[in-house]
Amino acid sequence: MGLFITFEGPEGSGKSTQARLLYERLQAMGYPVILTREPGGTRISELIRRILVDLRHTEMAPTTETLLFSAARAQLVSELVRPYLNTGGIVLCDRYADSTFAYQGYGLGRDLDELQAITTIATSGLQPDLTFYLDLDVEAGLQRKRSARDRVNEAKAAPNYTPPVEWNRLDARDLAYHQRVAAGFAELISNDPARWRQLSAEQPLETLAEAIYFAAEPFLERVPRLEPRR
Ligand code: TYD
Repeated sequence: MGLFITFEGPEGSGKSTQARLLYERLQAMGYPVILTREPGGTRISELIRRILVDLRHTEMAPTTETLLFSAARAQLVSELVRPYLNTGGIVLCDRYADSTFAYQGYGLGRDLDELQAITTIATSGLQPDLTFYLDLDVEAGLQRKRSARDRVNEAKAAPNYTPPVEWNRLDARDLAYHQRVAAGFAELISNDPARWRQLSAEQPLETLAEAIYFAAEPFLERVPRLEPRR
């Protein structure tokens, strides 16, 4: 029941922006839709997120990190995602379990079968119907995120200061780590090509948004609109 769409991609690929654009479009069309993110999306999961991204937590063991991402996910799935899908609605999620395989699996070297077992517990087996991968060169993405952070720091003094772009404990890992993650995503995609849509993040925002909507459109048939606007 319902429709579950997730967004994945390297840092700075603009997937949060694209998830929001799709959310706004579907909402304007009268679809029952919610947008959430990982790690986070519920009160408890957002608290876990704070522990995960804190730059001071350099001593965090990989097992702790893996279990915290999974704990945040378990809460999100049981509190928000499953109940909303059960009402027949659309859930858009900025990152999901694929990130655990890519980051903690390929990136940190955790055993993939073990991650599968933990993920099945956390999600009670819930898989996305469709996953977008916004493809961007790793270095370019990190650079984008760094410049966004610098702009934020400069803008802080300004009166119309916008919310900060996080530069967090996980971004701060070295380039080789982020490259292993990207290679991991490529492998995840090739293992399950039917679920994934890989799109270049290096195209104009509107063009990419259009391509994402176009790919999602066939899946919308199964979701009845609440209040179609003409
Ligand atoms: P965030 O600032 O949301 O980054 P992004 O905008 O790139 O999504 O921070 C989330 C970070 O957590 C990001 O570096 C990816 C990482 N992550 C994992 O390592 N494992 C996971 O299971 C998830 C969901 C995220």
